[in-house]
Amino acid sequence: MKSIVILISGRGSNMASLIDAAADGSLRARVAAVISNRPRAPGLEIAAGRGIPTRVVDHARHPDREAFDAALAEAIDAFSPDLVVLAGFMRILGDGFVARYAGRMMNIHPSLLPAFPGLDTHRRALGEGARIHGCTVHFVTPALDRGPIVAQAAVPVLDGDDADSLAARVLEQERRLYPLAVRWFAEGRLRLVDGRVALDAEQDAAASLISPRTRERR
Ligand code: GRF
Repeated sequence: MKSIVILISGRGSNMASLIDAAADGSLRARVAAVISNRPRAPGLEIAAGRGIPTRVVDHARHPDREAFDAALAEAIDAFSPDLVVLAGFMRILGDGFVARYAGRMMNIHPSLLPAFPGLDTHRRALGEGARIHGCTVHFVTPALDRGPIVAQAAVPVLDGDDADSLAARVLEQERRLYPLAVRWFAEGRLRLVDGRVALDAEQDAAASLISPRTRERR
């Protein structure tokens, strides 16, 4: 079974959805650890309460980004995960760190990328008068919020929405989308082709699409 390490900075609701999915079997992966760069991130307690090992690598205790990245990589590698999952992790990672986990590090971003990279996405979507908004799971590359897209979910922007109501609608989809994207990775169904993600069809679903005669010839 594939194992994942989840990096957080805050409340950890995406983290919780991944832990829940792994616990109920809908995500066949083991959450090996949760690591936070903030000692007081509420998500740490949630993870510990669900029996997941937790670690803190406090960015404020490291002189520069290189030192922080090195300490973080050491903490991650101690668990030898197949996949590193950024879930509300609010530090920019150096190119060396990103290269170390190329093709095995994912992030969830609260917009339909490539629209609205960076911070404050819900307020900016409202400000632009967007009628559709959403979230994106992507592989992490050195360019911020620009890596190959694994999955997206869209929500309508409703009259009367403010940033909070829109964020809540998007978050509901994030909690559904991230376990699905990680599940695809865990099942070995994601391939990078020309810098884009290809999703292999589910074996059973693929088989049912093939007519019996074609199937005989395989
Ligand atoms: C989510 O909206 C995620 O898309 C963004 O930060 C937020 C984290 O929320 N990267 P949580 O910590 O998972 O509750």
